[in-house]
Amino acid sequence: MEKIVVQGGDNRLVGSVTIEGAKNAVLPLLAATILASKGKTVLQNVPILSDVFTMNQVVRGLNAKVDFDEEAHVVEVDATGDITEEAPYKYVSKMRASIVVLGPILARVGHAKVSMPGGCTIGSRPIDLHLKGLEAMGAKITQTAGYIEAKADHLHGAHIYMDFPSVGATQNLMMAATLADGVTVIENAAREPEIVDLAIFLNEMGAKVKGAGTETITVTGVENLHGTTHTVVQDRIEAGTFMVAAAMTGGDVLVRDAVWEHNRPLISKLLEMGVEVTEESEGIRVRSQLENLKAVHVKTLPHPGFPTDMQAQFTALMTVAKGESTMVETVFENRFQHLEEMRRMGLHSEIIRDTARIVGGQALQGAEVLSTDLRASAALILTGLVAQGETVVGKLVHLDRGYYRFHEKLAQLGAKIQRIEANDEEE
Ligand code: UD1
Repeated sequence: MEKIVVQGGDNRLVGSVTIEGAKNAVLPLLAATILASKGKTVLQNVPILSDVFTMNQVVRGLNAKVDFDEEAHVVEVDATGDITEEAPYKYVSKMRASIVVLGPILARVGHAKVSMPGGCTIGSRPIDLHLKGLEAMGAKITQTAGYIEAKADHLHGAHIYMDFPSVGATQNLMMAATLADGVTVIENAAREPEIVDLAIFLNEMGAKVKGAGTETITVTGVENLHGTTHTVVQDRIEAGTFMVAAAMTGGDVLVRDAVWEHNRPLISKLLEMGVEVTEESEGIRVRSQLENLKAVHVKTLPHPGFPTDMQAQFTALMTVAKGESTMVETVFENRFQHLEEMRRMGLHSEIIRDTARIVGGQALQGAEVLSTDLRASAALILTGLVAQGETVVGKLVHLDRGYYRFHEKLAQLGAKIQRIEANDEEE
């Protein structure tokens, strides 16, 4: 097992960093490739992440040909053969996001059997909204022996109101609706940039999707979709993580290719804290002076609110801003586990229901800590940059799901960080 070792205390980050294509965009895009019954699909700017390898396996398991040219960051998918209906437990259990194959398989084959995603450390994460939407489009859903089966010879258009703007449900329903008879309207749809990227991709494949990025998405079904070439949108969460890293080390970092509009909620909070954030032709530049950082109050919300996927990293930043900050987590019910680990580093914090109170500006000490989920792993590494002494972060399996060469990118900015082989960890 590998670990990340950070020598903390003097890690002012300076320079520029390049970010990858978005994990949360490419996973549904890969699922959508199976909708193309004609021609090959080429995805460019694909990040090299374990979640991408998992989704490639899921799509291969459906009988599509998938080639990943890692050097070129390109995935080519040929889904012109007979697509099979089953996404088995061995892959879905590795990654919850594989549930987004349900809509595309059903639309293409008329019958889908997808393993139920299991529990998750950050929350219970039901999929009722995915299933309700598909039922409204005419699917018969049954759940047996850990599998969801959905059947519909012909999905039909429907008017669907989502109780909550779920990202995954919006994606599943959008994809299913592309091949349904008639018009589907999804109200209270998720508005994340990754939803917009998926809609652009589907339209490039011949679909008729309108309104992505707003609360109402309208999809007019077509007979079939074809392959295309598409460049994956940049990863706003990876970009945001480096923006936070720069801010909390009193650094000066240009995050190349970061999209200002996608990071608006984060930028507004950084500005409120006293961080300098500017839009430059090559990306977003973040400069900060630690003595100027002010405590702030943040609440996570669906986009365009503050992203829950930046919550853990932002709490790391709160630890260096003098005074009492609060973080309210409204999207997932159990996403503060990193704070328990940070307490081992000397953090004064208190969690009451969905609100964490963080007392910033206290000296933290390096410690041995464990990643509890993907974004928590980044948050703990960032905290290690500012703590005194050595921090050792274990369970990097989480980090590798969503960050490509994270320690190398930080080291290039001047961080004292290494990734080492360690034998004492049990998975
Ligand atoms: C996606 C992102 C994840 C991010 C999350 C919220 C991917 C691969 N993952 O996850 O990184 O943290 O959006 O921005 O893109 N819910 C229900 N019923 C449902 C579906 C969701 O109650 O049928 C609830 C969930 O339990 C959760 C909330 O809605 O509390 C948000 O979930 P959702 O937007 O669906 O997140 P994901 O698509 O799973």
